[in-house]
Amino acid sequence: MKFGSKSIENVGTTREGFTKIYAETNPPWDIGRPQPPFVAVADQVVSPVLDSGCGTGGTSLYFASLGHTVTGIDFVEEAIGRARAKAAARDLAIDFQVKDAMTLGEWDERFASVIDSGLFHIYAGDERKRYVRGLAHVLKPGGRLFLFSFNDDPDWPGGGVSRQALYEAFADGWEIESLELADGEVNPAFEAESPGHFAGKKMWFAVIRRKGAPALVG
Ligand SMILES: C[S@@+](CC[C@H](N)C(=O)[O-])C[C@H]1O[C@@H](n2cnc3c(N)ncnc32)[C@H](O)[C@@H]1O
Repeated sequence: MKFGSKSIENVGTTREGFTKIYAETNPPWDIGRPQPPFVAVADQVVSPVLDSGCGTGGTSLYFASLGHTVTGIDFVEEAIGRARAKAAARDLAIDFQVKDAMTLGEWDERFASVIDSGLFHIYAGDERKRYVRGLAHVLKPGGRLFLFSFNDDPDWPGGGVSRQALYEAFADGWEIESLELADGEVNPAFEAESPGHFAGKKMWFAVIRRKGAPALVG
């Protein structure tokens, strides 16, 4: 399958596919900082924070730099290695772990906020249900999920995520507090290799509270 200008098997769905993306490409999402909507809602983020599918850690580093206690997980060792190196270089203490987000349901840790910048939209069907159950498990009641996801553009991998699919995924035990279309930023190195690949595309940005308690505040 084509990934920008590269051809990669199982692109964007498996650990092997993502490992190759990190090894062989300039991933389009790897901008070294959070996507803009996360900065806009930073005052709603409460510690401890989980960055689920953290990649090379740009969003984790941002929230740690604001003083938050941050755990970042990704199932690609190379991505976590790069994230750890960045944290060390900036003297930021962040718990970066190589971990499969599909196992969140087996974790003992609990978080007041979860960041998902580009992970939820990768999975559909039973895997999506399992992932959302895991999010509910690790997020304290009243905690919030901050979600940045493909929308339902048919040209996007898997056809994207429709508004209805988002409401269905978070129907039980969640309240979608806000859902809007947002602009995303693309890694300039990817843009140079594959100009216009994401031109004019909008993403979803959602703030989703786990029910069972009033919203947690810092
Ligand atoms: C679109 S990238 C976004 C990375 C990062 N959040 C960012 O904004 O730069 C999705 C990330 O999720 C990771 N990922 C995909 N499936 C995963 C899983 N089951 N468990 C943990 N990480 C996963 C990939 O390795 C990749 O780093």
